[in-house]
Amino acid sequence: MISRRAFLAGAAVGVAQPLGAAEDTLAIGAARAGLIFGASIDASAFDNPAYLDLYRRETQMYVTDVALKFDWLRPAEDVWNFDPADRIVAAARAEGKLVRGHTLVWNDNAPAWLKKLSNREIERVFDEHIDRVASRYAGALHSWDVVNEPFWPMDRRIGGWRDGPWFSAMGPAYVERAFRRVAAVDPKVKLTLNEAQCDNDGDWGRSIRPLLAGLVDRLQHAGAPVHAIGLQSHLQPKFPRDYADFARYIAGFGAKGLEIYISEFDVDDSVLPDAPEERDAAVASLAGEFLLQALAVPAVRLVTTWQLSDRYSWYRGLPGNRANGARFPARPLPFDDRFRSKPMRAAVLNALEKRAADLRRLKP
Ligand code: G3I
Repeated sequence: MISRRAFLAGAAVGVAQPLGAAEDTLAIGAARAGLIFGASIDASAFDNPAYLDLYRRETQMYVTDVALKFDWLRPAEDVWNFDPADRIVAAARAEGKLVRGHTLVWNDNAPAWLKKLSNREIERVFDEHIDRVASRYAGALHSWDVVNEPFWPMDRRIGGWRDGPWFSAMGPAYVERAFRRVAAVDPKVKLTLNEAQCDNDGDWGRSIRPLLAGLVDRLQHAGAPVHAIGLQSHLQPKFPRDYADFARYIAGFGAKGLEIYISEFDVDDSVLPDAPEERDAAVASLAGEFLLQALAVPAVRLVTTWQLSDRYSWYRGLPGNRANGARFPARPLPFDDRFRSKPMRAAVLNALEKRAADLRRLKP
C-alpha cells in the first residue's frame, strides 16, 4: 500500500503561482501531482525572450542540455568554457528554478584531444574534470547526471558497455569512481545514472534494461552513492512497446530506494503520418499512454522534456531522420515552432492530473 507521504517524499518544491488556477501550466500540474516538470535549455534561450517566457511559465526545472557536456566545456585540454552553464545556473537561481546538471561522464562525443591521450592521462583528466566541475556547481544543482548512457551493446564490448575513452581507460570501474568523486565534493546533490532506450520493448530496450539493473545492484552492493535513475524516454513509435512492463521495471528501482527521473522526454515522430494535425494527435496519444503508466509509479519524481518547442528539438538536426527534411520538420514536443500549445501538452497535463487525483484518493 502506497502512503501519501511516500508518494510525495522528496517531491517538487512549490511553484510561485497558486494551485488551481484556471489555466494550469505544466509546472503547476506537476506540483499538484507531487512532481517537478522541467525541460532542457540552451543558453541561447536567454537571448530569445518569447522562448524564455515559455520556460519561465511552464517549467520548474532547467536541464543544462549541452552546456555541461565534456566536449562543450573543454574544446581543448587547457580551455574551460563555463559561460553557458554559469548563465543557466544564474538565471535559474534568479527565477527560483531548480537545475539538473547533464552530464559529467559520457563515452560518446569525446573531443579528439582526449582520444589522443594515454590511459593514465585519461584517468588524470577524468578525476580533474569531475573535481573541478562538480565543485564549481556544488550546492547549486538539484541533481547531476553523473554517468550518461553506460550501455550500448552494439559496441560489442563484454558486458554490453558503451565504448569510449573513459571505458577503454578504466573499464567498468569508471562508473563507481565517478559517483564517489562527485559525492566527495557535493554531498547534497542527487547523483543520477541516466540511460536511454529502456522505454521500448524492442531489441535495444530489452537488452539494455537488465544491464542497467545489474549495474545498479552492483553499485548498491558496493555502497556507492547512487540516488536516482534517469530514464531518458525519447519515445520511438517504430519499436514495439509495453509501457505497463516499463512501469514495473522502473518500480523495481523504486523498491531499492531510488528516485526515478523521466529525464529527456519527447516523441520521435519520423514514422508518424505526414499531416501535422494527425502527427500531433499521434504524438500526444503516445506521450499520454506512456505517462499514464510511468507516473503511476510513486518513485517517479520528475519529468523533463528535451527542449520545450519543436523548433529547437534535437530531431531537427539529426542527419538521416526524415523529420530533418524541410517538408516534415519534427514535432516531438509540447509546444510548436511559434511556442503555441500542442495536443501533447494537454496529454501531459492529463497524465499529471490523473496522478494528482490518485494522490488525493490516498489522503488520510
Ligand atoms: O551549434 C553548433 C553549430 O554552431 C555547428 O555549426 C554545428 C556543426 O556540427 O554543430 C552545432 O552543434 C550541434 C549541437 O547539438 C547543437 O545544439 C552539435 O554538432 C551536435 O553534436 C549537438 O548534439 C547534441 C547531442 O546531444 C550531442 O551532444 C544535441 O544538441 C543534444 O540534444 C543531444 O542530447 C542527447 C543527450 O545528451 C543524451 N541523450 C540523447 C540526447 C539526444 O541525442
